[in-house]
Amino acid sequence: MNEITEFLMKRRSIRSFQKKPVDIELIKQLIYVANHAPNSMNNEPWKFIIITDEKIKEELSKLHKGASHIALAPIGVAVVAEPDVSPETWMVDVVNATMYFVLAAYSVGLGIGWIAAYENKKAKEILGIPDNKVLVTLLSVGYPDPNYKPRDKTVKRAEDVIYFNRWGIDEDKRSNN
Ligand SMILES: Cc1cc2nc3c(=O)[nH]c(=O)nc-3n(C[C@H](O)[C@H](O)[C@H](O)COP(=O)(O)O)c2cc1C
Repeated sequence: MNEITEFLMKRRSIRSFQKKPVDIELIKQLIYVANHAPNSMNNEPWKFIIITDEKIKEELSKLHKGASHIALAPIGVAVVAEPDVSPETWMVDVVNATMYFVLAAYSVGLGIGWIAAYENKKAKEILGIPDNKVLVTLLSVGYPDPNYKPRDKTVKRAEDVIYFNRWGIDEDKRSNN
């Protein structure tokens, strides 16, 4: 293991932010990093909407209970996929780009809070996203509140999610063969 694997394992969702503003140029650079994510045919079938408008963040924060942190974040980001650009693979492509953005943001000291908003009609309306594009997720972005304690979480062991060669062949079954 190395520094990068440690960094990946230490990343936690952040749901409370400092008031400190976030430089839009930095967000643009992070989105440029995201554009380097692996994606089929390198079509880059995504758009990022950078949300700075307080009223829009406020409206989005009311989508559901888990969305409240976007009102506290200096920046919101909506990740939108373009199925018309890559009809077969847009879902995988856009998730890769999202994680590139998220991990790049952590690497420069920002924190991210996720908001479940997949194809949320209200959110699409607020953000003016056309019907043929897919709202994949909303992110709250800002410098982490130093007093925020990430929620407790458990992490499965590798063995709990691994099969060998064929579905259902776990380590025990494999060693019996
Ligand atoms: C697709 C997706 C939707 C999520 N939706 C929300 C949400 O609506 N509100 C929230 O506070 N966190 C949300 N999360 C964050 C998860 O709760 C969090 O990633 C998970 O509990 C693991 O914790 P960690 O990110 O701190 O490791 C979401 C994460 C993903 C990937």
